[in-house]
Parts: sequence; C-alpha cells; structure tokens
Amino acid sequence: MPHRTEILRIDPALPEPGTITRAAEILRSGGLVAFPTETVYGLGANALDAPAVQRIFDAKGRPANNPLIVHVADTQAARDLVTQWTAAAQQLAERFWPGPLSLVLRKRDSVPAIVTAGAATVALRVPAHPVALALIRAAGLPIAAPSANRSNEVSPTRAEHVLKGLAGRIDLVLDGEPTSGGLESTVIDLSVQPPRLLRPGLVTRGEIEAVIGPISTISNVNNEIAALPSPGLLSRHYAPRAILECVADNGAEKVGQLIQQGVRVGWLTISNATAASHNVVLIPMPPDPSGYSAQLYAALHSLDEAGVERIIVELPPAGDAWAAVHDRLRRAAHEAG
Ligand code: TXA
Ligand code: MG
Repeated sequence: MPHRTEILRIDPALPEPGTITRAAEILRSGGLVAFPTETVYGLGANALDAPAVQRIFDAKGRPANNPLIVHVADTQAARDLVTQWTAAAQQLAERFWPGPLSLVLRKRDSVPAIVTAGAATVALRVPAHPVALALIRAAGLPIAAPSANRSNEVSPTRAEHVLKGLAGRIDLVLDGEPTSGGLESTVIDLSVQPPRLLRPGLVTRGEIEAVIGPISTISNVNNEIAALPSPGLLSRHYAPRAILECVADNGAEKVGQLIQQGVRVGWLTISNATAASHNVVLIPMPPDPSGYSAQLYAALHSLDEAGVERIIVELPPAGDAWAAVHDRLRRAAHEAG
C-alpha cells in the first residue's frame, strides 16, 4: 500500500491536461486514483488489471463479494464489455448517459472476476463529470470505481472526505470541488426480465419506467449477503459513526429529550427550526430532493467531525423523487448487528 497520498487540485469544469495525464499514468501503471464524479468521489483502478482492482478492495476494506461499477467513456466502450447489449440498455444509455445510472448486463470474459465478485454480470456507467470523463479517456481504459470511502462509511462528496478515510492508502486524489449530485448512481439489473432496480439513486424509478416500461424492485432488504443480488443493498452500508434515527415530526421533541439527558445531538431538519442548546448541531437541509441529496453526505460527515453522539433526522416527504434519500437514511439508521 502506498505511504503517501498525493493531492492535486483540478478545475472541475476544465480539467488541466497535465494533471489528467499524471492521473492517467498512475491508473495505467496499476495505481489508485480518487476522482470526482457527478454523484460522489470514486476510487479508480484499471478494471482490466486484477491486481490493481485488488488494491481497491484492500484500501477500502471492502468485502470481496461486493462487485464494483466499471466506468467507461461512451456507449461503445460499454458494449465492448458485455455479451448482450439489450434494447433496454440502448434506450437507457441514450436517455441517461453520461449520467448517474449504472446498467447491470452479462459480462464478457475480458472483465476479470474480481471486478464482479465472481458474478456473470457487470455494472457499467458513463459518468457526467468532466474530470471523470477526461481521466477515463486519457487512461484509455475502463475504470473500476466504487465510492472512495472505507467500507461501510459515508460516501465522499469532497476531496477532504476521501482523505479522512483513505489518506496513505491510495496514490492520488484529484480535488475537483464538491460533487453536485451527492448520492450514488441508480443501479438497475437488465440481465433479468423485467429489469430490476437494485439501488435507487438520482435517476428515479419513474424516469426509468417512462423509457423502458415497468420494472421491479427488491422488496426484502436483509443482512444475508449470500441472498443479496447486490451487496451494496446490505442494510448498514452508508452509516455515520453516531446512531441515527429518523422521526416523522420535525424532530424538536426528540432532540429536546436527548439534550435533557446530556447527549450531544446532530439535527437534520427541513423545517424552520432553531437550536435549543449548544449541545445541538443543527443543520437546516434543503426542502427539495436534489438539494437535499447534494447536501446529505456532507452533513453526515460534518456531524461525525463534530463528534455528536446521536443524529435525529426529520424524515422528508414520501414519493419517487425522495426514494434515494429515504433509502440512504434508512441504511444510515440501521444499527450494526
Ligand atoms: O455513483 C456511483 O455509483 C459511485 C460513483 C463513484 O460512480 N460508485 C458507487 O460504487 O457508488 P459502489 O461500489 O459504492 O456501489 C456499487 C453498487 C453496489 O451496491 C454493488 O453491489 C452494485 O453497485 N453492483 C456492482 N456490480 C454489480 C453487479 N454485477 N450486480 C449487481 N450489483 C452490482
Ligand atoms: Mg459505496
């Protein structure tokens, strides 16, 4: 494992070619580079180099049974990695790529087993971020990239979040400012009929169904890895250090009770609230789903930094547009068992 992690600033809109070349060289020689995408920061390695991909698992402490998403520059590069490019894949790629949607399809033999955790399918996406696209193009390779956090911790939306978990464990971080989307891509399995939504994300179920018709979702999320079609669906997967609880009201009552017990509390609310005590770290959240998504992980990281013992979250409204936020809050709330 590398001892020193290099940090290079990069312009998120117009990435400097020299910096991209340096990062691409590291990827081509089997190293690990964290880079911004439009969702969260990814931890990239050459997807065709099994030892390089192994380094991702080592750096993250990621279980070997959790497959990685492979990032490519365009639809043709995606087609080159699968045995069957379905009509649904073509329609979804045309509508949502580059963008926050990962398509699971049957893989070719050229994709090493370690990338897909031994599965016959591979998850693919073309990211929309200029830095990610420039890096993939310069490397001239498909790039395997999970979120750039230690396994089970909150995904990074800023370079400083990446460093908190991975400093000294990876070669380079491209610091391209906070990501805009804030939550991981939607993952849909197109190798089954009907297609199955494995992870809700910034592309909503309704938007997908408008393109390819009805899809199914996973109904039983449980903790049995072997039974899971996508281990990222494990209940506790995106958790802050403090115990997090969602409440149906604005949270003032619960926060008040905890304060009385002398507990330091973080409070995420979409209502106009004021902090009752200096033992409360109040974070007002945007009341719309995309604003909320963009801020959620940064809020959880800052509460971890502040060292709060409990986090109370006012549950946002129900509905398709909020599904990804609800999903991540539910996982963050699940206590380790
Ligand atoms: O937005 C994102 O998707 C970010 C950025 C970096 O692109 N990446 C990301 O990767 O969130 P990761 O590894 O944290 O999550 C990948 C998810 C996991 O839930 C994994 O189980 C699922 O995709 N996945 C990957 N390959 C799969 C496959 N062949 N079949 C089913 N699920 C798969
Ligand atoms: Mg992740």
